[in-house]
Amino acid sequence: MKTAIIGTGYVGLTTGVALAYLGHEVTCLDVDATKVENLKKGKSPIYEPHLDELLSLASRNLKFTLDADAALRDAEVVFIAVGTPSLPDGNPNLTYLKSAAQSIGEKIASPYVVIVNKSTVPIGSGNWVESIVRDSYRANNPHKNSSFIVASNPEFLREGSALSDMLYADRVVVGADDQKALDVLRKLYQPLLEQTFESPAFLPRPEGFRAVHFLTSDLQSAELIKYAANAFLALKISFINEISELSEKVGADIQHVSRGIGLDSRIGNRFLQAGIGWGGSCFGKDTAALISTGKEYGLSMPITQAARDVNMRQRARMVEILMSELKILKGRKIGILGLSFKPFTDDLRDAPALDIGNRLIERGAKVVGFDPISMERAKKEWADTPIEFAPDAESVFSEADAVLLVTEWPEFKNLSFDRCAKHMKNRLVLDGRGHLEASKLQSAGIQLITLGRSSK
Ligand code: UDX
Ligand code: UDX
Repeated sequence: MKTAIIGTGYVGLTTGVALAYLGHEVTCLDVDATKVENLKKGKSPIYEPHLDELLSLASRNLKFTLDADAALRDAEVVFIAVGTPSLPDGNPNLTYLKSAAQSIGEKIASPYVVIVNKSTVPIGSGNWVESIVRDSYRANNPHKNSSFIVASNPEFLREGSALSDMLYADRVVVGADDQKALDVLRKLYQPLLEQTFESPAFLPRPEGFRAVHFLTSDLQSAELIKYAANAFLALKISFINEISELSEKVGADIQHVSRGIGLDSRIGNRFLQAGIGWGGSCFGKDTAALISTGKEYGLSMPITQAARDVNMRQRARMVEILMSELKILKGRKIGILGLSFKPFTDDLRDAPALDIGNRLIERGAKVVGFDPISMERAKKEWADTPIEFAPDAESVFSEADAVLLVTEWPEFKNLSFDRCAKHMKNRLVLDGRGHLEASKLQSAGIQLITLGRSSK
């Protein structure tokens, strides 16, 4: 099917490449000329494992353009995947969504077009998007009569595993108030729902994985599923982090506690990894949006609010622990291992490393960071902060009064801690992700403090 994707970011590009790989004719539209030029050369603007490989496998079904007319004219399905970042008051910024809807209204010409909100949009926006498309269509095509419908198809992709999360999804959720739109999207996703596509060598189908649930609903339910899913995942993480602070006090080990509760099939063991907590473009934005939607209806959403409060506290706790160990931060040099908000991505949005770095700089410390993948992006996006950058992981330790592990990149586990220790002014490491092996650091004479474990 002729498919257009508006927005070639983490979500739009992953969706477009996967749909093209499934055999659909996909045209990806963006406003960022550099991104489009790089994509035309097969170069992805983001780091996502295997995206470049799948891009080249799907290239014959994929086009990239800045030209809305070329992208939308023949489209039967149009995905909107533009940014919906948070405004200061927690509401999402819908400027880009609006301009995407307007250009859809101007350019579509197929007899029946399904417009799909892939971006996370406030509950009830589907109708709003439809009215914008309608007004723009009427104003620009007075003598034509394409019919179109807006559907919601929220994404559940985790960065760093986005392609496998899409090709081998737990479920595809589609919301629309018109059965025909649901049928069109079922047809679009058919190869994925029935797992009839040939799985790429570098993204093998999980053992015994046969089919994907296709859940259809009305628009609002699909929109709320996205927010509720993210808020619940964020809550799970904040819950184990709340327990981790108590476990430090009582001398328990949060890894055992997490494993012990996670073995209960009603709880499940995923998203119970205690540590610095969540960052990224979704959990913070979606919990804020859910709370602001609740406020519109006079609801306070206390549990979702608590998930946010606990999460923010985790970052403050890293600084508090450092203060209690070093007493003075002024003039100290603190190293930060890991800048991306999580491993296997170069995404720095709401990265705990930036928040913690700024809190340390506010207290007069010097901060030097390293990340195996997101360094170039950090040097650009954090240019206006005094955060400095080290050429490699071990250099973060030289002359350091303390080193914080903030992102659990695998390579940090196997550093030569003996060599690192020799260059440290003060041999203290705070592990914010429960990632490092205590024995390796202890034998190097480094004091290790791990969030969630008592420091005895
Ligand atoms: C986006 C939303 O931010 C998120 O809320 C939703 O869950 C999925 O879509 P992401 O793909 O990470 O997530 O956004 P981003 O990486 O910012 O990419 C958005 C893309 O849209 C950018 O490439 C931007 O250039 C493009 N864009 C933005 C347009 O093509 N047109 C616009 O008017 C604005
Ligand atoms: C999340 C949701 O998982 C995904 O379904 C949604 O579509 C987009 O938002 P993402 O933010 O890319 O995906 O990554 P995820 O793996 O969920 O991690 C989010 C944050 O939670 C990261 O900062 C990670 O470090 C943190 N996290 C995750 C924990 O602190 N503990 C955990 O157990 C899991």
